[in-house]
Amino acid sequence: MEFQGKVAIVTGGAQGIGRATALALAREGAAVVIADRDEAATTALVAGINAWGGRALAVIADVSDEADAARIANETVLAFGGIDLLVNNAGIQQPGTIESTTLQLWQEIINVNLTGVFLVSRFVMPELRRRGGGAIVNVASVYGLRAEAGWAAYSASKGGVIALTRAMALDGAADGIRVNCVCPGLIDTSLLRANATLINAQRPDEALRAFARRTPLGRLGTPEEVAGVILCLLSPIAGYVTGAVITADGGIEARL
Ligand code: NAI
Repeated sequence: MEFQGKVAIVTGGAQGIGRATALALAREGAAVVIADRDEAATTALVAGINAWGGRALAVIADVSDEADAARIANETVLAFGGIDLLVNNAGIQQPGTIESTTLQLWQEIINVNLTGVFLVSRFVMPELRRRGGGAIVNVASVYGLRAEAGWAAYSASKGGVIALTRAMALDGAADGIRVNCVCPGLIDTSLLRANATLINAQRPDEALRAFARRTPLGRLGTPEEVAGVILCLLSPIAGYVTGAVITADGGIEARL
């Protein structure tokens, strides 16, 4: 029970990578706050964790809303007395070239993927400092490191998350707050399946198989495989790691 006594917040924790992370943290003894805008999925997951003896709280919130971001921190402190760990995972994805992306879509993607990380961290970092330190993991993407045609706003938002991670790591260092970033590749979640449907509406499974062939490991990643990297970075095992950008991408980033 590596995280016994710790209090963790996972944004976008109702499904996919965030859900796998929240479940792994709860299994390892942490009290987990799942902050997500999907009310039905969030309350069902929290009820499930509490039913098997874990400690979980649902906060229905939009990370891109300042009042909601403040509420995530406040409700966590009210329920569990403080905050030790934060996983900024909530994210959305929509394709678009620099010309086909409307200003509205650009702002929506930047607001959730980048401003959401800023806002939630802004309210959580004072609480980590009050506990004498803590750890944050931001979930970016390989699209923040390398580009692909047709993903302008998403790539920019994730590149911003990588840069923000480094800035947060430096700002938090004196207070014992470590901040790192995970860049997933092609992970089998509803987000990737929606992407596959856009590419091949008739046969999304064929698009998913094509994604898998693009990775050196020859398969999609699982949400649990990304959660494992996140937990490692949150844990004292990674006590000397801060400001790092770690890929979990089946080798995509290694290839020329
Ligand atoms: P997903 O779509 O399965 O889950 C995302 C969760 O975030 C959902 O529960 C959704 O309700 C929540 N969410 C979305 N916008 C929100 C908001 N404004 N406020 C609160 N909650 C919100 O997605 P997945 O695949 O688990 O993605 C998680 C993170 O990993 C995202 O940041 C995504 O960009 C990133 N990622 C995913 C990859 C993949 O292949 N699945 C690859 C690279 C990065």
